[in-house]
Amino acid sequence: MTAMPTNDSSNLTAEAQRHKHLKLRVWRQSSAKTEGAFVEYEPEGLSDDMSFLEMLDMLNEQLLARSEDPVSFDHDCREGICGMCSLMINHRAHGPNEGCTTCQVHLRSFRDGDTIVVEPWRAKAFPVVKDLVVDRAPFDKIIQAGGYISVNTGGAPDGNALPVAKTISDTAMDAAQCIGCGACVAACKNGSAMLFTSAKITHLNLLPQGKAEADQRVVNMITAHDHAGFGACSNTNSCEAVCPKEIPVSFIAKANREYAWALLKGKKPTLGQKESES
Ligand code: SF4
Ligand code: FES
Repeated sequence: MTAMPTNDSSNLTAEAQRHKHLKLRVWRQSSAKTEGAFVEYEPEGLSDDMSFLEMLDMLNEQLLARSEDPVSFDHDCREGICGMCSLMINHRAHGPNEGCTTCQVHLRSFRDGDTIVVEPWRAKAFPVVKDLVVDRAPFDKIIQAGGYISVNTGGAPDGNALPVAKTISDTAMDAAQCIGCGACVAACKNGSAMLFTSAKITHLNLLPQGKAEADQRVVNMITAHDHAGFGACSNTNSCEAVCPKEIPVSFIAKANREYAWALLKGKKPTLGQKESES
């Protein structure tokens, strides 16, 4: 019986083509109190199909096999939902692809032989915890100041019992897409978190359930933003350029208008002890 011809050699060629050799310059810093530095690595066994975080997993396995300290980095869902992954890749927040989180970047986005610089978010309000992990707790301070609805809105109403215009619900849902990753802060030369803050304000203030607290919310959240050490927005739009959820800067203008109106109406921040101390 004649053996069936195989295409092993062409598979091997395709496999060889997918194989990737990359040099990594990774920021290593053992704690917030120590100085950091770049360390070069050349992980083995990479391929085009691998995600950026899988590459870091593989690097860490190889470091552990050599009894070296693995690289600390944040991640959770690995599908663009949670906002935990947070890397400057070649000096751009979340890497080279638009509308994409770090966990959605694949090695096919780089050329064989490339050197990739991997750093944590660089912002005064986000101190480095270790290596590529930063403390994003200041975002929690902004949410604690008003990123919720505290009035009793009752049970879930029937879909048509509370009419909301399509344009309003669409804009609110666009704002609700913010995953709190912090790329907007890392990309901003002022370290401003106004894209994040304005997305949260827009999401809640547009919907009927959020309107009762709208004025207080915008005053509290923008005050908490300033107290948490974030800088002011100076309209460079760098935040919008790197936002993986493509949140538009028009939300910042909208939040600023609402803030000005609320102040004119005499609203004052009512932050709790914790927020005003931060
Ligand atoms: S506005 Fe965009 S970049 Fe900023 S935290 Fe939200 S999702 Fe991330
Ligand atoms: S790990 Fe959840 S968005 Fe990247």
